[in-house]
Amino acid sequence: MPFERFMGLALYDPDGGFFGSGPLRSAKSGDFLTSPEVSPWFGRTLARAVGSPQAVVEVGAGSGSLLQPFVEALPSPPERVVAVDASPASRTALGDLGFETARDLADLDEPFAGTIVANELLDNLPMRLASRSGDAWVERWIGLDSVGLSLVEAPARQDTIAWLDAYAGTVPDGGVVEVQLEAATWLQRAISLLTRGTLIVIDYGATAEELEPRRAIGTLRTYRAHHLGPDPLLEPGATDITADVNFTALLDVAQRSGAEASLHRQDDFLTSHGLRDEMARMRSLELELARGDDAMARLKARSELKDAETLLHPRGLGDFRVLLASVG
Ligand SMILES: C[S@@+](CC[C@H](N)C(=O)[O-])C[C@H]1O[C@@H](n2cnc3c(N)ncnc32)[C@H](O)[C@@H]1O
Repeated sequence: MPFERFMGLALYDPDGGFFGSGPLRSAKSGDFLTSPEVSPWFGRTLARAVGSPQAVVEVGAGSGSLLQPFVEALPSPPERVVAVDASPASRTALGDLGFETARDLADLDEPFAGTIVANELLDNLPMRLASRSGDAWVERWIGLDSVGLSLVEAPARQDTIAWLDAYAGTVPDGGVVEVQLEAATWLQRAISLLTRGTLIVIDYGATAEELEPRRAIGTLRTYRAHHLGPDPLLEPGATDITADVNFTALLDVAQRSGAEASLHRQDDFLTSHGLRDEMARMRSLELELARGDDAMARLKARSELKDAETLLHPRGLGDFRVLLASVG
């Protein structure tokens, strides 16, 4: 079985897939902690990058922790807000917050003017796995033997080779690359849905060149209960499967789709949209509260500030990348 088919089943199968069944995964009690779960200032600050969109669509909206503060921070309410998520538990949570929900971006067939945002979505789209073999490439598929699942070698498909030649960078013999064709297709579709407006994609990952030092073993990994999990083949459906996003490939797709696209670090992007100014305001409030006797209010102010700082940590969330694509 091709690796991307295995990953698709393990994550999205309605009967046992990690996102396709089971509880909400992106909450504080879940398996990973994302920027919007850390602080509402993530959504509020992103909102400043998009003006006053007529429509807002978030894909992979999780618990709604990005969409709610994002929409509330817009200068005027959008005519339509849609929360898209593949997880039934997530759609229930999003519906409870009052959002219109959809399962897939493809369910929105009418192009619109507005904003599409996706945080930590593309790292979860099914990928192919490839390995350098001398001057050539081989794919790694899933095999089944008497012991269980294992990775087996298979000939590289033509579109896999074309993607690798364009975006893998320099890879040592035996080195592993996650081939992100589905992310490219998703990005193309998202851009083609916008008649005018902005697409913001945020994720862990880097440019092809920045990822080169990690190519000896590749970046594929699992998460469970906020920690790195076991080998992806050991408990399919019970762990998140993910890999660093190759933003060189995405930037290229966005530009070839006719968008004006740029790539930023999350800490720089949030700073340029005023997060550090907000943090200075939070700091003054905390100092002011320190002079009074409301210890609870002071603690709350301090925790709001600490959470906002986490979004900018240079080796943590601040090191995520933001792809901004403007259409029309
Ligand atoms: C890592 S979580 C991130 C959730 C949220 N964006 C956040 O930052 O907290 C990924 C989310 O994307 C959803 N998802 C994954 N693939 C999807 C797809 N193809 N279409 C819609 N949602 C998807 C998952 O169900 C999950 O809720």
